Amino acid sequence: MSETYSPGLEGVIAGETAISTVETGLTYRGYAIEELAEHSTYEESAYLVLYGELPTVQQAAEFRARLGAAANVPPEIIETLRKIPASAPTMDVLRSACSLLAHWDPEAADNSHAANVRKTERLLAKFPVIVAARQRLRSGQDPVAADSKLTLPANFLWMLRGEKPSERQVKALDVSLILYAEHEFNASTFAARCICSTLSDLHSAITGAIGTLKGPLHGGANERALEVLLAVGSPQQAEAWVNAAFARKDKLMGFGHRVYKHGDPRAVILKRLTSAVAAETGNQALEQTAEIIEQMAWSQKKLPPNVDWPCARLYHYLGLPMDLFTPLFVIARVVGWSAHVIEQLDNNRIMRPRALYTGPAVRKLPR
Ligand code: CMC
Repeated sequence: MSETYSPGLEGVIAGETAISTVETGLTYRGYAIEELAEHSTYEESAYLVLYGELPTVQQAAEFRARLGAAANVPPEIIETLRKIPASAPTMDVLRSACSLLAHWDPEAADNSHAANVRKTERLLAKFPVIVAARQRLRSGQDPVAADSKLTLPANFLWMLRGEKPSERQVKALDVSLILYAEHEFNASTFAARCICSTLSDLHSAITGAIGTLKGPLHGGANERALEVLLAVGSPQQAEAWVNAAFARKDKLMGFGHRVYKHGDPRAVILKRLTSAVAAETGNQALEQTAEIIEQMAWSQKKLPPNVDWPCARLYHYLGLPMDLFTPLFVIARVVGWSAHVIEQLDNNRIMRPRALYTGPAVRKLPR
């Protein structure tokens, strides 16, 4: 047995993938995220991640039609959403709902490549319905039915608010979903691959991935990042707040990354977009606070912001409740997770690493 041990599996190559790489910036199936964010839509990028190629015009229309047809949720699940205590975090509710969806999916137990692609499309269509319905139910409103003519982000905002969103809002949400869609062997994707490597099923893998993403060191950071900004209060208080946080050795949520030590390319794209939305929505003070924190984190700790730092502000400026930030990450990432599950199953070997034993030497039971 090899004696190599790397805490947190840092630097360990744990598998092969053709879906994305962080080697030379971030690319999905060979396309740079900068180009995808500028010239594609979330639906096109989702199709790319799942199928390996960008869709033709006809394929994109058919994909939209399938998503539209699948944008419904069994009434029994809606009833369950109604009964879950209003205080339950939306991430927890979405995790439970993903598991419940398996019971109504006719292909839940079919692990073939084709069935897993079809199930992925259904999850992609149903997650926004669940998140929007849950948010409305917990605030005493009835769910709004999906509009199959709308794109996925437009439909989400429509189902959440019951009002047609502006093009600017849809575009901003769309870009954030493109940037959240896929990210190589992060913790939640690796969890999904581990789960399906036992020949378990797609719904189990995605349910586990949602539970993994929820943690504040991973996707949960986008909610914690806004908490930081709101706690700081104003640009005038930012410097003292950061100094105190660093003195306490607190982790600054939305900063740092295991792989991107000099900067997260997703954060660069989203920062530009977020600043523009801040200017249009009168949120310059929060942008200024964020900028001071960003400069201090870099000058004192060489810590660059990650994608969750600008995304937290963007979602706040779009008027989205904080509790929906990480569920939006799920709505986007389900294609990345599923593509990895499918890739893992196409060439599967069960994940079974070893541990470096640190317990007592062999001993006898006392008699
Ligand atoms: N605030 C303060 N110090 C930090 C931070 C931070 N956010 N991130 C890293 N450091 C320090 C860390 O304490 C360590 O210092 P020292 O060498 O003195 O012990 C040094 O930087 C190296 O960090 P590390 O802990 O070895 O980094 P890691 O690769 O194990 O962890 C991370 C990566 C993302 C979990 C970590 O940077 C972190 O906790 N960040 C805050 C949570 C966050 O924003 N997560 C989102 C990640 S990206 C997108 C996503 O998954 O949602």
